[in-house]
Amino acid sequence: MKTTSDLLKKKKNGEKIAMLTAYDYPTAKMATENGIDVLLVGDSLGMVVLGYESTVPVTLDDMIHHGKAVRRGSGHTFMVVDMPFGTYHGNPDRTLEDAVRLFRETGADALKLEGAGIVTDAIRRLVSAGIPVVAHLGLLPQSAGVTGGYKVQGKTAEDALRLVREAKEVQEAGACMLVLECIPHQLAGRITEELSIPVIGIGAGAETDGQVLVFHDMIGYGSHYVPKFVRQFADAGKPIREGIAAYSEAVGDGSFPAEAHRFTMKEEEAGKLYG
Ligand code: KIV
Ligand code: NA
Repeated sequence: MKTTSDLLKKKKNGEKIAMLTAYDYPTAKMATENGIDVLLVGDSLGMVVLGYESTVPVTLDDMIHHGKAVRRGSGHTFMVVDMPFGTYHGNPDRTLEDAVRLFRETGADALKLEGAGIVTDAIRRLVSAGIPVVAHLGLLPQSAGVTGGYKVQGKTAEDALRLVREAKEVQEAGACMLVLECIPHQLAGRITEELSIPVIGIGAGAETDGQVLVFHDMIGYGSHYVPKFVRQFADAGKPIREGIAAYSEAVGDGSFPAEAHRFTMKEEEAGKLYG
C-alpha cells in the first residue's frame, strides 16, 4: 500500500482503512508488519511523547525529527505527517516553504492540515506544488484554545451542515483523504457518503471508510488523559512498569547481573591486575 489510489480503491471496494499514529522507528515497523494501512506522524506527539499539555508547542523540526524516524521503519506503508501549529495560516510562500521542507526531509506521502476556510487555500497551494494533502475537520486540537477545549463538534444541524460544506470544500481543493475527529456518527456517515475521497474517523463512529487512533492511547502506554472514544486494545503500561520495578529491585539486591551476563578474562591475565 503506497499511493492515494490504493486507498481510494479500498473505499470503492468497501474495505476499511486502518490508520495508526507512530512517532518512532520500532512502532512504525511493528505497525507496518501488523496490518496498518496508513501511518500518521501526528502532532499528538507533543502530548504522548514530549510531555506538553497540547499540540501547540510542537515545532516543524520536531515533526521532521520524528517523521524521519517513522519513515525508516515504515517500508512502503503510506505515511502522513502533520503540519504543526502556526505553519500554515500566515504568509502563503512561507507555508509552502515549510510544507516542502517537511515533505522532502521526512519522505512523507502526504501532509495533514487542520481546518477549512483560509486553510483550504493552503491545501490548494500545496496540492498544486505536488504535495498530497490530508484534511482534518471536526475537533481541531490546534485550535482548542479558541473553540473552548476538546469538545464534540457538529452536534446541531447548523454546525453539522457547515462541516458537510467544509468537507466538500477541502475535497474540491484537492485533499486526497479526510480525517474527522470527534463528531456525531450520523454526520460522519453523511460526509463519508458525500465524498469520493477516503474519510477516516476518530471518535466519529463506524460509518467512515476507516479509523485512526493515537498509538499510546490504543495500547495503554503513558500517563496522559485518554479520551472516551478510545478502545484500549492492550495494556502495555503494565508489563513495562513491572519490568522496570523488577530491574531496579534486581540491581538493588545484586541478583543482576548474573554469571550469564558477564565477561571473563583468563585467570592468568586477571592475576596480573594485583601486580
Ligand atoms: O495528531 C494526531 O494524532 C491526529 C489524530 C488524532 C488524527 O491528528
Ligand atoms: Na494532529
